[in-house]
This record gives sequence, C-alpha cells and structure tokens, in this order.
Amino acid sequence: MNARPRVIVTRRLPTHVERALNEYFEVELNEVDIAFDPARMRAALLDADALVPTVGDRLGADLFDSTVRVRIIANYGVGTDHIDLGAAAGHGLVVTNTPGVLTDCTADLTIALMLAVLRRTGEAERELRAGEWTGWRPTHMLGRRVSGRTLGIIGFGRIGRAVARRAHHGFGMRILFHSPTPPPAAVIEDLAAEPRELDELLRDSDIVSIHAPSSPATRGLIGPRELGLMRPDAYLVNTARGDIVDEPALATALRAGRLAGAGLDVFDGEPTILNELVDAPNTVLLPHIGSATLETRTAMGMRVVENLRAFFDGASPPDMVSASR
Ligand code: DGY
Repeated sequence: MNARPRVIVTRRLPTHVERALNEYFEVELNEVDIAFDPARMRAALLDADALVPTVGDRLGADLFDSTVRVRIIANYGVGTDHIDLGAAAGHGLVVTNTPGVLTDCTADLTIALMLAVLRRTGEAERELRAGEWTGWRPTHMLGRRVSGRTLGIIGFGRIGRAVARRAHHGFGMRILFHSPTPPPAAVIEDLAAEPRELDELLRDSDIVSIHAPSSPATRGLIGPRELGLMRPDAYLVNTARGDIVDEPALATALRAGRLAGAGLDVFDGEPTILNELVDAPNTVLLPHIGSATLETRTAMGMRVVENLRAFFDGASPPDMVSASR
C-alpha cells in the first residue's frame, strides 16, 4: 500500500476491529455511534477512499454520482439490500460483504427464537418478574413441543442449512426446504431434507423459518395468501429480512388466530416497528441480534479489514459482491 487510504466507518465496531483498521488506514470512526443521515452519508462518499457501512445505512442511487471519491464500499454484514449495487457499480465502486462468519450465530439465534415462541419463554419470564407466578400447576404456560416437529426452511443457503443441521440432528425435526438452487446431494442426505414448492412447504410445516436474502424476488414473498396456506397451529420465524414478510398481514393473521405465533428478529423499516405487530399475540420480537456475539461481530469486522487491504493492495477482495463497471 502507498499512502494510507482514508476510510470512514458509519458505526462503532468491536475494539479489536477498530484497532486493526487504524493499523492499516487513516480511519474516521463514528465515536458517538449515531446513524448517518443522508447528508452525512453523501459527505462521507465525497470525502473518503472507502466507506464501511452496516445494514442500517441506506445507500440509494441518489447518493452516487461522478463526484464520489469512495472506490470501495466494504459492507459490515452479509446482506447488501440496503445498497443500490447497480448505481454503485455504475459509478465505479466495488462492493464487498462478510459472508460465512455469521452463519453459526444467526442459526443459533433462529433456534433460540423458535424455542422462545413455541415454549413461551419471554411471556413466562415476564410473568415471574412481575410477581404473578402462583406456583407450579399442570395447565400453566402450556406451549408447544419443538422436538420432532416439521420445519420448513425458505432459502437453503449457508444459514438455512445451519438451522436445518441444528434442528434435525439436535431436535430430531423433519426438514422441508424451498430453494431456487438445489443443495448438494450430501446435504440432502445428511439432513434427510425434502424439497418443496413454496405453497406445499407452507401447508406442510409446523414451523416456517425464512433464510432468503431480500431481493425484488423475495420482497413480500410471505403475504396474505401465503399466510393463509399455513395451518392455524403453525409458527413463522424470520431472521433474514423484514421486507420478505407482509407485516400488516402477519399481524392480522396472528390477531385472528389464523397463525399460532411468530418469532421475528428483523423488521421492514427497522428500527421502527409496526404497532400492530408489537400488539399482536404470541410473538417474540428481537432487535436484529442474529449476528450479535462478540466473536461474530469481531470476525465480521476482520473480514472488512481483509477486503479493504486486498482492494488497496491492488488484489481482488475475497468477498466481492459487485465489481465496478
Ligand atoms: C447481515 O449481516 O446482513 C445481518 O443482517 C446483520 O448481521
């Protein structure tokens, strides 16, 4: 590397990552950890050689033009639906992400959500803390069994398969999956996984878990019709992206008892949450913490460092999502 490239980071990162960035680059950190507004984001694009944004940052086409100085957007996270990749590439920017390192923790959290919703752990803990527990009784806080149930997985990539492994080998669950690309035969065999069209999967699953990326093809994928195909005693879990589910339709289905419950870690328009969803029965709602462990968030940051170093060394970054045009 020649002169140290100037890197702007939009949010605080784990200490180890900030130190590593400082070692190789001239870094501007976001000490106050408040999200950039569009004007601040645009200024950053004009003022640095590289930008490190996160899922909470919108980088729409309106922010890119020929005056942008940034050459690489090294996204801290795997999903890049918040970035207009076409506009970035069209103005000569490379975009990278951080795949692989968050698979296990996101899969763990998915299982945690599944257990929390079906076994009513949040509700039970709130009752105890409120001093409302009157003692053990056979009909108290009855949830539904997780072990041995049928799990339908929408999107059978890294995270979908990691969830399937935990569910099948750990909880003896039957695995159905819906995926545009067929997984290797060894994966299917290991998990005794059964491919299904989406409608069939929705009809046949006790729990449906979403692991597809947000894209024009998946936005609103689970709408009123699809929710109507699920059984009234079935549950929906989403740790992928909020906009894949039609949230008003989900809230209506929950209120009407047409669905047994939902566990959600992601929301359309987060951090704003639809009131109807907050008020809906049998939900566990988490603030997008799928990858939130110190180990994973550090590993994600180190992937960002690797991508930036490769790029500024003139090599191809290992996690290229889109190249400049
Ligand atoms: C991602 O990486 O896209 C997650 O949603 C944040 O961990």
